[in-house]
Amino acid sequence: MGALVALTDAAVLARVSPQTVRNYIRDGRLKTGMRTPAGRYMVDREEVLAVFRPVRQPRIIVLANQKGGVGKTTTVQELGVILGRDVRTLLIDVDPQANLTKLFGIDREESGSLSIADVMLRRKSLREVWVKIDPPANLWLVPSCLALGLVPIHLGQQFGADFILRDAVQKVRDDFDFIIVDTPPSLDRLTLNALGCANEVIIPIDKGPLGIRGTENMETILEQVRAYNQDLRSVRVLHTKSDNTVASNTTRDLLERRFGPNLLRTAIRSGTKVAEAAYQAQPLQHAFPESHPARDYQELAREVLGGGS
Ligand SMILES: Nc1ncnc2c1ncn2[C@@H]1O[C@H](COP(=O)(O)OP(=O)(O)OP(=O)(O)O)[C@@H](O)[C@H]1O
Ligand SMILES: [Mg+2]
Repeated sequence: MGALVALTDAAVLARVSPQTVRNYIRDGRLKTGMRTPAGRYMVDREEVLAVFRPVRQPRIIVLANQKGGVGKTTTVQELGVILGRDVRTLLIDVDPQANLTKLFGIDREESGSLSIADVMLRRKSLREVWVKIDPPANLWLVPSCLALGLVPIHLGQQFGADFILRDAVQKVRDDFDFIIVDTPPSLDRLTLNALGCANEVIIPIDKGPLGIRGTENMETILEQVRAYNQDLRSVRVLHTKSDNTVASNTTRDLLERRFGPNLLRTAIRSGTKVAEAAYQAQPLQHAFPESHPARDYQELAREVLGGGS
């Protein structure tokens, strides 16, 4: 038997209500369920994951903002590294800058090496292209490369060109609990493909009035995306690079007023360790797990896990 978790944590992992977990224990579908002397249910987390996998829907989260440098890629990497310790997680790099790919120390620039570009050109499946990241134990990455930038030109006005990624993701969705997609700082066809397969969108915003104004285009696009993606359930905003400056505090106030419950509670603090970890070619979680932004990402992962969509 592996690690035991409390019933409420099991419910979060299984993405069902605590009552459902309790029912599974009562009728014997969860065999390791037991009650502590204090009357609390405890269950084996591996068994919970295995038993509930068929009924769980994977969560497909897309990080998007046409403004550059707001922390999209850093957030995808950090969430991937944290979630990938416990649940099966696939990261997809849909940015021709390939920053996420490079942050994991992977290079797909040599001709002939496989990347998301092959998937977008319908030559390969995600499964043929993804690579295992290790650690953590349950993390995979679909790498990108510069040539992805030419794909929209190749696709031209082809019918269905905005749904290529959605079709590819459909084929592997049952293999994962989380699929997290990084997008370029633009609202082009690559970003539209990513938004087309999202259940949830997270828009990171850093300080400054331009950051908030920049979301207006995003909101217009998301309205259009909703017309063809009925699975898009939530759009939330993440305050990144926060610090105690007037600009940052003003941003927080504005974000709270503008987005209300759709503003993620966790803000990611600014810290020099983010860039330092990148120079070491290590995720922040591994290089500086105690730094402020690393701890904020741990909190964000809890919020994302707990909140559902
Ligand atoms: N919390 C943070 N504190 C300090 N620096 C950060 C933080 N988050 C990200 N950065 C730095 O800001 C820069 C941009 O971050 P990142 O690449 O994650 O943004 P992005 O939105 O993906 O950018 P792009 O739009 O170019 O893809 C990087 O140099 C990164 O190291
Ligand atoms: Mg990026």
